[in-house]
Amino acid sequence: MKRLSEEQISRALTNFASNSKGCKLSPQQLLDFTNGKIDREALDSIAGQSILNPRQFDRRTIVAIAQLAALLESRNVEMDKPLDGKIAITAFFEASTRTRLSFESAVQRLDGKVLSVPDGQVTGVAKGESLADIGEMFNTYGDIVIMRHPETNSLEEIQRNLQRPLINAGNGSGHHPTQALIDWYTLLKWRPELCQDDCPEERKVHLGIIGTPGSMRAVKSFLRLSLMFTGAVKKITLISEMADPVGLDLTEPIEESPIPIDITNNVQSVLPDLDIVYVNSIAFLGDSYRNLDGRSKLQEKSPLKKDAVIMHPLARNDELPECFDETSHNLYFAQAAGAVFVRQALLIAVLNRLDRLSGV
Ligand code: CP
Repeated sequence: MKRLSEEQISRALTNFASNSKGCKLSPQQLLDFTNGKIDREALDSIAGQSILNPRQFDRRTIVAIAQLAALLESRNVEMDKPLDGKIAITAFFEASTRTRLSFESAVQRLDGKVLSVPDGQVTGVAKGESLADIGEMFNTYGDIVIMRHPETNSLEEIQRNLQRPLINAGNGSGHHPTQALIDWYTLLKWRPELCQDDCPEERKVHLGIIGTPGSMRAVKSFLRLSLMFTGAVKKITLISEMADPVGLDLTEPIEESPIPIDITNNVQSVLPDLDIVYVNSIAFLGDSYRNLDGRSKLQEKSPLKKDAVIMHPLARNDELPECFDETSHNLYFAQAAGAVFVRQALLIAVLNRLDRLSGV
């Protein structure tokens, strides 16, 4: 076998692998911008809490989680063993690549242990067992439960008996709050000044969302958090072929937000003005999902601003062609790469293990 060069070996074995293509973001920029401070009070406010819906957060807590994630991304904390003795149950009743594996990686890299349910059919559900009964079992098997389920009401069902903190990893057409935290962590690494109340006018962003928040949980949660960044987002444009893409959940927060929101079905006309283009196509319909086959797909010749970035929670289909992967528009691989650190920050805060981190 041909021996690799020193550089190739180093790239293959580095502790903190970055995304291989697209924008590579440094956590240091965010740490420098916030003077490396960790907002303990904001992080302590989520100790012991379940994380179910993005409305639980405020901007201060989102930034605090991002700061801690940046710290974890920038330094080796494995010797601190912050999750030593804790068991996380990852109960996935619906398919996932990123969410389950990045949560499991997050726990194991911090010395916690994982009980993994990669498919509901390996549980008593296959024999008709209820989620409420499964929740009762989880009380003694683990310290925290991370659940994905195709049914929107699954959180209420498992919480009938579950007494452990529950992290919603996606519930039907409901929400995907940890994905939205990852999305904002990515944006704050990209432009740290977006965390400010009074972001300079020329750095404020016009955010475009291609998708239907009403039936796309990742899009919905991202939009919900984005509405909190009133000092940084100057406008939001929703690009959807549906007359009312918003859905009931977000009607009130949108009405109350000072951020102007437009709705259009003409992607080409709005693209040249967007700083951020958030794309998704997977819509949840009851207990199943399908790809919305719209005309709003990005193409190699789409009229993007030179420094615009494309975000996507992934998995993608043909709404986001591979031609963007090698370009500086690609922020979607950086989103996926930051997932482990955001989920580590969340787990440390919820499990009240901040004291285990030296120097925090
Ligand atoms: N972003 C996201 O939720 O990806 P998975 O479906 O692979 O978990």
